[in-house]
Amino acid sequence: MRKKIVAGNWKMNKTLQEGVALATELKDILAAEKPNCEVIIGTPFIHLATVSELLKDSIIAVSAENCADKESGAYTGEVSAAMVKSTGAEYVILGHSERREYYNETPEILKEKVDLALANGLKVIFCIGESLEQREANQQEAVCKAELAGSVFHLTPEQWKNIVIAYEPIWAIGTGKTATAEQAEEIHAFIRKCVADVYGAQIADETSILYGGSCKASNAPELFGKPDIDGGLIGGASLKAPDFKGIIDAWK
Ligand code: 13P
Repeated sequence: MRKKIVAGNWKMNKTLQEGVALATELKDILAAEKPNCEVIIGTPFIHLATVSELLKDSIIAVSAENCADKESGAYTGEVSAAMVKSTGAEYVILGHSERREYYNETPEILKEKVDLALANGLKVIFCIGESLEQREANQQEAVCKAELAGSVFHLTPEQWKNIVIAYEPIWAIGTGKTATAEQAEEIHAFIRKCVADVYGAQIADETSILYGGSCKASNAPELFGKPDIDGGLIGGASLKAPDFKGIIDAWK
């Protein structure tokens, strides 16, 4: 059976002290009441080592929000996949629409990042999703398929085991406008079919596909109730422990 996952993406929020406080609160809440899913928190680079150490014996896994597309060397300000791995983090989020849009990350660059992340023993949460304009032109399927083909469909079946897909329609991110559960299920099923076309039905069936975009405790149960939605990648609602716990509880 594929994994059910609730993952947080803190984005560029929380100082180190605030991040440690949030991770501690979450650790305590989830120690008291075991979740029915895998829980991951994606933090800024500077939090990774401290938060990973703090969560070492907990059920919460830690993720970076990015890594470099180069292995090492004279790339001032960049953080490599090996460095991320050395902090104790298990995952890295790649292909987020904010990285694609504001930092010009192309499918080719993302392919390099995915390869380096996997080569360094990280698991990848790979984000795809269409803009409002593309949705209105009914291009969501073509966009998602092209984003997969451009950066992850070259992987071997063995490597694919370390990939989690996150479908995040750009028009739903931080807007309060969630895709309906039906809209999300339709495209999740399509994404699974694309995976099956490349890797076969069994691997597709074992691939976790998360939904992201204004997911919160109130809409998570309906979204997660759909057969092809295996959890969520959560932005705003991952910044407060009770809000995040409310989403985790959708798997009860
Ligand atoms: P929001 O949950 O704030 O809409 O953000 C979703 C997201 O981008 C997670 O990666």
